[in-house]
Amino acid sequence: MRNLKWDINSLNQSKIFYAFNDESNQEIRDFAQKIGKHQFVDQTVINPENFKSIIKELKTIEKEVDQGQKIVILKAIPGLMYYEIETFQWIVSKLLGETILQNEEGRHLIHIFDRDPMRRIKDGARYHQTHEMGAIHTDNVNIPETYQYLLVGCVAPAMIGGENIIVNGQAVYEYLKEYAPKELEILMEKFTWEYRGISKELYEAPIISLDSHGEAQFRHLRTYMESAHLRAGKLLNSDQVRALDALDAALNMSCFQLIYRLQEGEILVANDSKVLHDRKCFVDAMDSISIDEKKAGKQGHLRRSLLRTWVRQFPNS
Ligand SMILES: [Fe+2]
Repeated sequence: MRNLKWDINSLNQSKIFYAFNDESNQEIRDFAQKIGKHQFVDQTVINPENFKSIIKELKTIEKEVDQGQKIVILKAIPGLMYYEIETFQWIVSKLLGETILQNEEGRHLIHIFDRDPMRRIKDGARYHQTHEMGAIHTDNVNIPETYQYLLVGCVAPAMIGGENIIVNGQAVYEYLKEYAPKELEILMEKFTWEYRGISKELYEAPIISLDSHGEAQFRHLRTYMESAHLRAGKLLNSDQVRALDALDAALNMSCFQLIYRLQEGEILVANDSKVLHDRKCFVDAMDSISIDEKKAGKQGHLRRSLLRTWVRQFPNS
């Protein structure tokens, strides 16, 4: 295959992990200690003046996520409390760009955890609120504009499982071009999408398109797109279904996947439309508690708790 950015054999593992220097770690510790425990850390104002060292280091990280392998995992800052990991992610998100509203409650940083171990996706639960494996996707499907960064921070891993799956979109695109060119053509035509959680309107966009550098970018969350087609009364034809099956089969090829279980305090910074993601199923410890319960004073082990922010790059960076 030509032009592969990376597959699992060519991935440069040494570029994936990034540890901030002591000065940057101290900037984060100082600020986290100053603001303490917050119900909603995303209401905190981040003044770039206080983070000069981090801003310098973020240039390297941005370059790797924009032009390199499209992902970086920030190493944990030793000694942070569970709620200070939220502050860490909020600082990095705000310094990378403009954070995006994620729900009707006004949250820009949300917690991903299993709301109820007895509820399953087939019963109508939202994937990010369960412990089940989902389908490989991009997060940015609810608005036509693309934003660059998805940040996923780990406050606590699961007792068992919950590995993160990261898939190189460019490699999948090159593979489809070679082995399923007709299906690829269909994926590059328009599909219908919902402004889910934002408005009742629908919009149209392809699943795969090429950016100004000729690189493949993806918009893919199959169940949401299928729901939009149903609402629009435009049933997918057999060629479209076949093309989607070809895409999902390619995304599920292990050679295009990095599988990594985020550790406590680590933050994945991913180029959302260039790498797709998913996670494997997991189970939490018995009687484990959520971040909000812990903040309210309840004692116990945290269940698998991840943090999510979406960030649109500043226009001049
Ligand atoms: Fe996601």
